[in-house]
Amino acid sequence: MNDAPIGVFDSGVGGLSCVEELIRLMPNEDIVYLGDTARVPYGTRSRDTIISYAGEDISFLKKHKVKMILVACGTVSSVLESIKDECGDIPVSGVVMPAVRAAYEATQNGRIGIIATGASIKTGSYDRKLRELDDKLAIIGKACPMLVPLAENGYTSPDCPPARFFTEEYLKDIKAMNVDTLILGCTHFPHFSDVISEYMGGGVKLISSSAELAAHAAAELERCDQRSSKSSQGRIELFCTDSAQLFAENVRKFLGRDINAGISKCSLK
Ligand code: DGL
Repeated sequence: MNDAPIGVFDSGVGGLSCVEELIRLMPNEDIVYLGDTARVPYGTRSRDTIISYAGEDISFLKKHKVKMILVACGTVSSVLESIKDECGDIPVSGVVMPAVRAAYEATQNGRIGIIATGASIKTGSYDRKLRELDDKLAIIGKACPMLVPLAENGYTSPDCPPARFFTEEYLKDIKAMNVDTLILGCTHFPHFSDVISEYMGGGVKLISSSAELAAHAAAELERCDQRSSKSSQGRIELFCTDSAQLFAENVRKFLGRDINAGISKCSLK
């Protein structure tokens, strides 16, 4: 048993899609979440900048004595090997491996699409891990940068013309390849599931990188006997690096509701 909080971070609100799933799976766990809102997006930055920002995010979570660090950001997860040392003894997991394993299990025709940020696609992180599992898979990846600001502003539903426009624009080549499985490799993207399913057709299985990371975290805590002993609802604390009021508004737009959590501005210096 371990009553320390789970630490989760992302560049902005996207990682809250992982937090929602963590709360569903393990309602008694405390969670400390950091959204680096002063510097979102990460997905348009260079590798060095992403590594340096992630190092500061991890140091912040370490100060909160977290028992596990979840990189709820596809962009940072794509450079996970370069930031692992920063975590010291604290176990760390990103979204890439859990999503890749789920996609590999789901595909029937061996054709898998990946959508993520430009930085994630550039690293080839998802493709590489998929090919390690099976080098005969047909894989197609596409950077979808415009979906990040749309998600940050709550424009994610099928009734929303910009969400439909960018979904079609980004997914047309993937659709033409007849994939049967699509990895939503950026944690901002699970909120587009309805619009993406509508465009791709119900036969295409969507893999939420956020949900897969949360399921992986639950299994790991169970396996290592590190679950919280508390029987009451866990405490959720959200931190952001820009205005807390703005973050609260964006959280509401992104989740479509208020979240029962304290929200505070923090400094990473
Ligand atoms: N949510 C992030 C990801 O999963 C990044 C979005 C961004 O900051 O560009 O990649």
